Amino acid sequence: MTKPAVRVAVTGAAGQICYSLLFRIANGDLYGKDQPVILQLLDLPQAQGAVGGVVMELEDCAFPNLADVVITSDPKVAFKDIDAGILVGARPRSKGMERADLLSANAEIFKVQGAALNEVAKRDVKVLVVGNPANTNAYITAKSAPDLPARNITAMLRLDHNRALSQFAKKAGVLSQDIEKLAVWGNHSPTMYADYRFATVKGKPLPELVGDEAWYRDTLIPTVGKRGAAIIEARGLSSAASAANAAIDHMHDWIHGTNGAWVSMGVASDGSYGVPEGIVFGVPAVCANGDYEVVKGLPMDDFSKTKFDGTLKELLDERDGVSALLG
Ligand code: NAD
Ligand code: LMR
Repeated sequence: MTKPAVRVAVTGAAGQICYSLLFRIANGDLYGKDQPVILQLLDLPQAQGAVGGVVMELEDCAFPNLADVVITSDPKVAFKDIDAGILVGARPRSKGMERADLLSANAEIFKVQGAALNEVAKRDVKVLVVGNPANTNAYITAKSAPDLPARNITAMLRLDHNRALSQFAKKAGVLSQDIEKLAVWGNHSPTMYADYRFATVKGKPLPELVGDEAWYRDTLIPTVGKRGAAIIEARGLSSAASAANAAIDHMHDWIHGTNGAWVSMGVASDGSYGVPEGIVFGVPAVCANGDYEVVKGLPMDDFSKTKFDGTLKELLDERDGVSALLG
C-alpha cells in the first residue's frame, strides 16, 4: 500500500535555488524513493507565471512520487498542514552588496511567514531557513511562531560545512566523505568558524593530516567564509545548486538521522556554550529519530574563543537590528 503523502512547502519557488531544489525533492532525495510528496510552492504574485513554468517541467519529469503540486502567493495556503518547510524566498545579495544590507530587505518576509507557520503548519513541522541572512531570518521566524517549538526552526550552515569538507579533503588528500566530526559554529557569513580540532579521517586527527596550521587559519577559514562572495563575483549570481544540495543534506539528515555522525546546523540556542537562549547559532549536531541533539561540552582554546565570540557578536548585532521589527 502507498504511504500517505508528506507535505513540503518551499518558498521562492521561481528562483534559482528552487530550480535545483524542487527537482531533488520531487526525485525523492529528501524523504526517500518510497514516500509520496506534495509540494506547496510559494512565491510573490508577480512570479506565479514563472512558478507555473517550473511546475510544467516538474510534470515533464514524471517523478513517480510527486503526488501533487500547489502554487500560491499566500503563505497560509503554502504552509497549511506541512511536515517540512524550506524557506528560500528572499532577495539574494548582488555584486558589492554586504550581507547586512539584506537584513532590512528580508526581515519583514520572515515575520509574516513565521506568523503563517504558527497558524497553519503541523505542530511538529521541520523548518529550514535558507534565505539570507539565514540565522537571523530563522530567529525572526521562530519569534513570530510562538506556538511552534523553536528548536524546529533551523538555519542552513550546511553549505559552509560542505565547503569546508571539500577544502580539507583537497588539502589532506583524503575523501570528504571520510572526514568526521567537523564543526561549523555561528553565523552563515564570513564570520563562521569552521573548527577542525575534533575532526578525524579513519581515526587519524585531521589537523595532523593537514599539517599546516597557518593554512588552516589564513586560507581555509577565509576561503570558506568568503566562498559565497567569490561565487557571486564569478557567476554574477549567488550559489544555487550547491545551496539546494546543502538544503537537501540538512533536511535529509534531520529526517533520517546521521548514525552518530556530526553535521552543522543553525539551531535556536538552549544557552549552551554561553550563546543566549533563542539565538540561532551554527553548532555540531547529531540527528536521530527525526530529531537532533547538539554536541555539548566541547572545549574552547584561545583561537576558538576569539572566532566563536566574533561570530556570536555579529549575531547579537543582527538580533538588535531586528528588535524593533519584532516589537
Ligand atoms: P532568487 O532571486 O533567484 O529567487 C528568490 C525568489 O524568492 C524569487 O523567485 C522571488 O520572487 C522570491 N521571493 C521574494 N520574496 C518572497 C516572499 N516574500 N515570499 C515568497 N517568495 C519570495 O534567489 P536565490 O538565488 O534562489 O536565493 C534565495 C535566497 O537564498 C537569497 O536570500 C540568498 O542569499 C540565499 N542563499 C542562502 C544560502 C545559505 O547557505 N543559507 C546559500 C545561497 C543563497
Ligand atoms: C552563499 O554562501 O553562497 C550565499 O549565502 C550567498 C551569499 O550571499 O553569500
